[in-house]
Amino acid sequence: MGAHLRRSNVVLFLIVSLVATLVTSSLSQVGEDKVKLNLYYESLCPNSEDFIINYLPKMFNNGLIDIVDLKLSPYGNAGLLDNGTIVCQHEEPECKLNTVEACAINAWPVVTDHFPFIYCVEALAEQSKYDEWETCFENLKLDPNPVTECIISGRGYKLKLEYADEIRALNPPNLYVPWVVVDGQPLLDDYKNFTSYVCKAYKGPNPPQACRGL
Ligand SMILES: *[C@@H]1O[C@H](CO)[C@@H](O)[C@H](O)[C@H]1NC(C)=O
Ligand SMILES: *[C@@H]1O[C@H](CO)[C@@H](O)[C@H](O)[C@H]1NC(C)=O
Repeated sequence: MGAHLRRSNVVLFLIVSLVATLVTSSLSQVGEDKVKLNLYYESLCPNSEDFIINYLPKMFNNGLIDIVDLKLSPYGNAGLLDNGTIVCQHEEPECKLNTVEACAINAWPVVTDHFPFIYCVEALAEQSKYDEWETCFENLKLDPNPVTECIISGRGYKLKLEYADEIRALNPPNLYVPWVVVDGQPLLDDYKNFTSYVCKAYKGPNPPQACRGL
């Protein structure tokens, strides 16, 4: 009885290990195959707004997002004074919205969760209605608390300092915003053509429909 129990435990253990190994290896394979796409932008920069509203969303509709590890970085060319004050190219409202967006990314770390919010805020910004950003919570049925708490507590400011370090560490450095980098390669003026670069960089087994014919 004891030996029998032990044997079935061993079999169970082997099965569980095998399944766990298969799951983690297929997950890590998917992760490794993904192409990194980093977007460095400023919330009230017209070209950044245009890219986020009119170009980036198609990747969520054509399957490209399945092969992309998309990271948004809402800081851009803001300056950091010695006393810790952040100075934004498009003034204080931009600093505020960068904080809002940094907090949204932090609150909902999965890109398909935070992108709709970023899109909503940028669409308002594009219509010069950026001060209505809080309507995006209701429009998207999102809980405002994690974002509000992040802003009030000062965590949003700290997140922006991390974004500041990230953009300053770029090599080669960014020349302007929006600045799109695919697997370490800046796309320069051709950033709206990111799909071609992502498809070219993708080495995995399942190119999405969006890559056919490229
Ligand atoms: C930081 O320095 C700037 C420029 O000298 C000044 O306008 C601002 O009020 C200072 N902020 C704080 C919090 O001390
Ligand atoms: C996008 O990139 C592809 C391949 O790199 C190129 O053939 C095409 O002309 C580019 N399109 C635009 C709009 O730049």
